[in-house]
Amino acid sequence: MNLLQEKVCLVTGASRGIGLATVKKFASEGAIVYANSRGTNIDEMCTHLSSEYQTPVKALYFDVKNEYEARNAMLQIKKDFGRLDVLVNNAGIMKDALIGMISTTVMQELFETNVFGVINMIQLACKLMKSKKSGSIINISSIVGIEGNPGQMVYSASKGAVAAITKTASKELISEGIRVNAIAPGMIDTDMFRSIGEDKIKSYLKDIRIGRLGTPEEVADAIVFLASDYSKYITGEILGVNGSVKL
Ligand SMILES: NC(=O)c1ccc[n+]([C@@H]2O[C@H](COP(=O)([O-])OP(=O)(O)OC[C@H]3O[C@@H](n4cnc5c(N)ncnc54)[C@H](OP(=O)(O)O)[C@@H]3O)[C@@H](O)[C@H]2O)c1
Repeated sequence: MNLLQEKVCLVTGASRGIGLATVKKFASEGAIVYANSRGTNIDEMCTHLSSEYQTPVKALYFDVKNEYEARNAMLQIKKDFGRLDVLVNNAGIMKDALIGMISTTVMQELFETNVFGVINMIQLACKLMKSKKSGSIINISSIVGIEGNPGQMVYSASKGAVAAITKTASKELISEGIRVNAIAPGMIDTDMFRSIGEDKIKSYLKDIRIGRLGTPEEVADAIVFLASDYSKYITGEILGVNGSVKL
């Protein structure tokens, strides 16, 4: 449908899961896509998608925690196209620990990637977006950041922070023409979710009223909507993509 024709888009954490599905959907909608990876080689995947969808899909290697690397990546986009229309803050990590077992290292790791990484990327991206007085930023929060979940105090706090960042940034940046929204996925079939183990997955399945896990592509569909002009009057929203889950 070419919903994102000619839009310059950056997706963080695009080596697999929801990020990879988003890069594919963006390319299929005609976007010019920068796919970020912190290490996994995605050159071949980008070449393949470029030729399949006849649109530039470029790999950008950096760690979202590293402000210097992220700044250089943004400079590269500025040099290539002079603008950034869409940023998807998807990169994230999940580590679970019960209360009483939470280490400072886990707190630091989760907040550095899931919270500081998102703040860094918003600060860098909005400089480019402000110059064109338009842009759409989509942050990936989580249902557990809104509802909480036993064993996930730190992860849910980091994702709750992403929801708060979204609300504040949307209010601050709308005067610059920049919309900021978030997606709060439920249980999505990716490596991250699979890492909890088959037994836990089985027990969680009965809590999803739609009767199955979500797919990364179903989250990517919602991201495409928030990236496109079909959502041009929407900002500051947290959109659940969860098949009606009971937490
Ligand atoms: N799956 C779910 O059920 C679910 C539910 C709610 C929210 N989410 C959120 O959705 C997002 C994507 O999750 P997913 O399920 O697709 O996870 P995933 O399969 O584990 O993929 C995570 C991606 O983030 C990348 N990444 C991690 N730390 C990074 C860093 N510092 N810099 C750059 N990239 C980094 C990973 O790169 P490597 O390949 O190098 O590790 C990978 O590409 C995350 O923010 C997650 O918290 C997921």
